[in-house]
Amino acid sequence: MDVAAQNGRDGAGLGPRHVAIIMDGNGRWAQSRGRPRLFGHHAGARRVREIVECCPDFGVKYLTIFAFSTENWKRTQVEVAGLMSLFRRYISKEMTALADKNVRVRFIGDRPRLDAKLVALMDRLEEKTAENDGTHLTIALNYGGRDEVARATKRLAQDVANGSLDPESVDEETLPKYLDTCVLPDPDLVIRTSGEARISNFLLWQSAYAEYEFIDTLWPDFTAEEMGRLCAKFGTRDRRFGGVKT
Ligand code: FPP
Repeated sequence: MDVAAQNGRDGAGLGPRHVAIIMDGNGRWAQSRGRPRLFGHHAGARRVREIVECCPDFGVKYLTIFAFSTENWKRTQVEVAGLMSLFRRYISKEMTALADKNVRVRFIGDRPRLDAKLVALMDRLEEKTAENDGTHLTIALNYGGRDEVARATKRLAQDVANGSLDPESVDEETLPKYLDTCVLPDPDLVIRTSGEARISNFLLWQSAYAEYEFIDTLWPDFTAEEMGRLCAKFGTRDRRFGGVKT
């Protein structure tokens, strides 16, 4: 399918339907206040609620946030354990509010490496919000774009081996069906906070035609107002998906 048609986006004037965010800068935010890095992650987690809640105001139907990458295990044991505990607390604490606010939550990433208690909470939140049809919030947890493509390729190869997939039929519409994001549209806008201009293995396949915004704001300072400004700016962009304006 044509990329623009798939996204339901074919030109300027519309806000992004799917915004994906690399929430960066928690550590520096904390360090600039003389506090430990985990203090910044807690501030960052509080910021998530405001950004999820503002999505309907800007016509954003899908929000995907990068909470923990497959590379983040390289951080100190204290920081990793603190983040895992924060994710458990966030899910337990926000479960009812998210369900009541008609948010549908999904998780993407490789679950087997995560703690069983955390996975059980993730499953519960997904189940509890499965019937919601407001904002679709996807949380990337132990997620890496290359890892996702490798896992998808493995499943695709298994289907070829068991005879349920004809290798001759494989084209660029086949692989996305095996990705963690198979039910989501591609992101229209990817935002990275904290001044770093790199994508760090986030939604590699899915962001082929996304617009990018690299902004200096550290994640705990990112507001609904700034989100609105970036969504409005997106609406002024001329997206051609490799074609020319007719
Ligand atoms: C990057 O900042 C941030 C992370 C690796 C963790 C993201 C987690 C949160 C925003 C909080 C919790 C999220 C949810 C969904 C509850 P960094 O530590 O790399 O910052 P730095 O670049 O300044 O060191």
